[in-house]
Amino acid sequence: MIQIAPSVLSVDLTKLVEQIRAAEKGGASFFHLDIMDGHFVPNISFGPVIVATVKSITDLPLDVHLMIDNPEIYIPDFAKAGASIITVHQENSLHLDRLVGQIHSFGIKAGIALNPATPETTLAYVVRNIDLVLVMSVNPGFGGQKFIKGVLSKFKWLKEQNPDLILEIDGGINLETAKDAVSAGANMLVAGNAIFNSEDIAVATKSLLDAANYVIV
Ligand code: DX5
Ligand code: ZN
Repeated sequence: MIQIAPSVLSVDLTKLVEQIRAAEKGGASFFHLDIMDGHFVPNISFGPVIVATVKSITDLPLDVHLMIDNPEIYIPDFAKAGASIITVHQENSLHLDRLVGQIHSFGIKAGIALNPATPETTLAYVVRNIDLVLVMSVNPGFGGQKFIKGVLSKFKWLKEQNPDLILEIDGGINLETAKDAVSAGANMLVAGNAIFNSEDIAVATKSLLDAANYVIV
C-alpha cells in the first residue's frame, strides 16, 4: 500500500483545521511538515509551534522534514512537538550517524533526505540504521516546482540495501509523476500543491492515492 503525506506548506493557514480534515477524509496516512530556516534553503517556513498545532488537530502521524542548518539543536523541540518521523538532510550534516541516534533516542523514526544532485550511495554506511530515505524530486525550498525525473533511479539501490526502508519522494508530485515514482520504487508520496491547491482536497488526495496504488510494480 502506497502512503500519501500531504504537505502542510501548501495549506491555507486560515483554513488549517478544515483542510487537514479534508486530506484525512481523502485517505492521507501522514502529514508532512517542511521546516525551512532561510540558510540551508532560500525560504523560511515555520517551526515547532505549527507542528504542535497540527498535532493537536490530527491523530495521523507527523512527518517532519528539516531543511535547516544545525538540526541537532532543534531535533528535541520537533520530537516534543509530536513528530513521528524526523528527516535531516545528507548535505549539511557532518555527523549523520550521530543525528540518527539522536532522533532514535526520542523513540521515533529517523530519515535522511537527498537533494536532487546528491548520490544515494553517500548513504552506504548509514542506510541500514535508518527508517526512511526522502528523495527530493525538486530543489528544496518551495512548493509548486517541476518534478525532476532523473532522481527516480536512486530508489533501486536504496531498496537493495534495506528492503524495510520507507522510500519517500517529495516535490512536484501529481497524478502523472506519482505513477512514475511508484513504478521506480517509492512507497510514500509527499504532495503539496496537487492536494491543497485543488478544488476539492479530499477528492485530490483520494485520486492521488488511487493513482499510486493502481500501479503494478
Ligand atoms: C519542498 C518541500 C516539499 C513541498 C512539496 O522544499 O520539501 O515538501 O511542500 O510541494 P509540491 O508537492 O507542491 O511540490
Ligand atoms: Zn518536504
